[in-house]
Amino acid sequence: MPKLAIVYLSTQGHTKMMAEAIAEGAEERHVDVDIDNFYEWDPNEAAQYDAIAVGSSTFYYTMLDPIAKFIDKLVEAGVDGKIGAAFGSYGWSGEAPVQIADKLRNGGMEVIDPVLRIQHKPTEKDLFECNRLGKDLAEKMKHR
Ligand SMILES: Cc1cc2nc3c(=O)[nH]c(=O)nc-3n(C[C@H](O)[C@H](O)[C@H](O)COP(=O)(O)O)c2cc1C
Repeated sequence: MPKLAIVYLSTQGHTKMMAEAIAEGAEERHVDVDIDNFYEWDPNEAAQYDAIAVGSSTFYYTMLDPIAKFIDKLVEAGVDGKIGAAFGSYGWSGEAPVQIADKLRNGGMEVIDPVLRIQHKPTEKDLFECNRLGKDLAEKMKHR
């Protein structure tokens, strides 16, 4: 089975809710999913995965330094040619997911649309969109 990693930073659990809904969507399309907080994850594990989705909420108009450094290490570990996705909850400006997508693309990943941004705590409708992103990721992985 194709393997998807979902890695996130979430302070109040909003981005984590998105991550879990993305995971459910991908699993419903029969993809093997590992989901973890970014600090539980060794960037060198990247080699095992066909696709990696990275999520972060936005703080002070950017992503927090630890997740930025984590993504840099992920890119150094080698993600060229893998499928990527970027997502995150935000309050008012929501830069982090866009910045994540840029970093992943610069590392040679094919980042799928949409870069998914949800304001505050995801609603049922928002979680449906996250689930859809998981399904889209799975389909993309299977048709490679
Ligand atoms: C100290 C602080 C700074 C924040 N700065 C921003 C910001 O610059 N832009 C923005 O869109 N949201 C900002 N937010 C809002 C968070 O991104 C938002 O609450 C988000 O839902 C948190 O998601 P999480 O639980 O996944 O961390 C800020 C929140 C806090 C507490």
